[in-house]
Amino acid sequence: MNNAGFPEEPENSSLEMDEDIPVALRDNPERASKLRITPLLIISSLVGFVLLATISGVWFFLTENEKDTQTVATPRVTPSPEPQNSQKKHNTLLGHISYPEAPESELTAITADGRIKMRTSAAQKFKEMTAAARAQGVILAPLSGFRSEKDQKPLFFNTAAQRNQTPSQRAAVSAPPGYSEHHTGYAIDIGDGAVPATNLNTKFENTKAYKWLEANAAKYGFELSFPQNNPQGVNYEPWHWRFVGDRDSLETFYKARNLKPTPVSP
Ligand code: DAL
Ligand code: ZN
Repeated sequence: MNNAGFPEEPENSSLEMDEDIPVALRDNPERASKLRITPLLIISSLVGFVLLATISGVWFFLTENEKDTQTVATPRVTPSPEPQNSQKKHNTLLGHISYPEAPESELTAITADGRIKMRTSAAQKFKEMTAAARAQGVILAPLSGFRSEKDQKPLFFNTAAQRNQTPSQRAAVSAPPGYSEHHTGYAIDIGDGAVPATNLNTKFENTKAYKWLEANAAKYGFELSFPQNNPQGVNYEPWHWRFVGDRDSLETFYKARNLKPTPVSP
């Protein structure tokens, strides 16, 4: 087109764009309003999208955070002191197991002079047992019952020094303080009143008292603690018996040993 004679029109981009629109539509008022609505729609959609994303984000953060709190909190609010206790119960020294001392209030005398004591439950059964034995002509003589850790100290260290025994040698025949069954109040050394020369000696196994115990002690809840070749490696002590006739005594002596259950013959 020849524009000579006319001032040159400045280039108008909108006019150029309108070239793509059919002439009939160029001045259509409806189209004009559509052109105004479209950016509005875009902006509204954008705002809506941003709002939706924000709400979803907040919701996701809250729920995930709650899950995290639960996961982390569960082990914290469930303390488990059991392993520490079990570990303590399994403490051993030179083949002996650590035992807690029986409280004074739970001890009862088993001799007339009150010098030898046992836990009340064991004391009652021991008295029943001695009475039954006596009725059959057997004298079960109590030699030593409850012993404190303090009582056990000289028995272990002083005797070891007098006999020139190493701790291992001494431990084969006596428990170190803190590790004696006598601390529990459930253990008792028994002699034969008719043959005191066999007291605390393996010859005790030849006495009437030992044979009677072998045949009857279990009826009263007593068992031999250190038979020949016992798994603790303690020397054979036919005179040393322990009460296992109630829950507490049974747990005292057997819980620490449950790691290796004894096979039961068919
Ligand atoms: N006489 C045994 C070893 C004890 O005291 O446990
Ligand atoms: Zn003993």
